[in-house]
Amino acid sequence: MDVSGVRAFVFSGAGTTRAVAERFACGCGVPHEVVDVTPQGAQVPMFEPGDLAVFAVPSYGGRVPAPMVERISRCVGGDTPAVLLVTYGNRAVDDTFLELADLVRKRGFVPVAAGAVVAHHSLMVNVAEGRPDEKDLGVVDSLAHEVMAKLFAAADVRAAELADVPGNRPYRDFGGVPFRPEADPAACTSCGTCAAQCPTGAIVAANPRETNAELCVSCMRCVAACPAGARKIGGGAALAAARAAFAVRCAARQESYLLL
Ligand SMILES: Cc1cc2nc3c(=O)[nH]c(=O)nc-3n(C[C@H](O)[C@H](O)[C@H](O)COP(=O)(O)O)c2cc1C
Repeated sequence: MDVSGVRAFVFSGAGTTRAVAERFACGCGVPHEVVDVTPQGAQVPMFEPGDLAVFAVPSYGGRVPAPMVERISRCVGGDTPAVLLVTYGNRAVDDTFLELADLVRKRGFVPVAAGAVVAHHSLMVNVAEGRPDEKDLGVVDSLAHEVMAKLFAAADVRAAELADVPGNRPYRDFGGVPFRPEADPAACTSCGTCAAQCPTGAIVAANPRETNAELCVSCMRCVAACPAGARKIGGGAALAAARAAFAVRCAARQESYLLL
């Protein structure tokens, strides 16, 4: 079957998943578009015949980030082949692939390949520093070449369908982390960039110095986006202790891998 273009649909708080999706899309060798749907209310792309769809997410607690579940529920495929790309911070992806496959199948997509890519942990920042590295990016490049070859050789999308998607049902429970970004009132200019970029409406433009802890998913988008560098994760000693424990628990190098 022919692929005339790649349309990647990305949730990315700190930006690594977006960079990985761009690397993958470039490697496919056909025209591509990478659509970042992280901000709340982002338009979802229209998928067309001949498209290869890419759904790219970071693993959060071994699951698909909750805001991306809503974004995917607005996508419409028509037996569109889909690649599942998951970045993770050197712990594990747990049920992220299975949940993502279930979500996209319900919307008319057919998973044909998947890739797990180790990336710098956006919260536990002393874990997986410098990842993805050259070896990880080699896996991303291989995935691009191999999925295009697989589709080219397949008579139809069903012939290319991913046979086994790892994960368990019910999915792993994940209720979020107890650390939220906060604004430094001395540095914040109330420009509203963080509110515009927030995936959940946890920050409102009228008062960007407050973060609604119920809505915040700790994605770090506001920290990455703030032009004044005024936002950083709160948590003080508790965060420092969690980071130290996590660094010990996740010290062993995990690898990126692909599923075809
Ligand atoms: C709330 C939250 C939960 C996370 N949970 C996991 C996890 O369960 N396993 C893991 O290996 N990494 C986990 N991570 C790390 C991210 O998956 C990783 O840093 C990812 O590359 C971030 O992508 P981004 O830069 O596009 O936001 C978590 C990060 C956050 C912010």
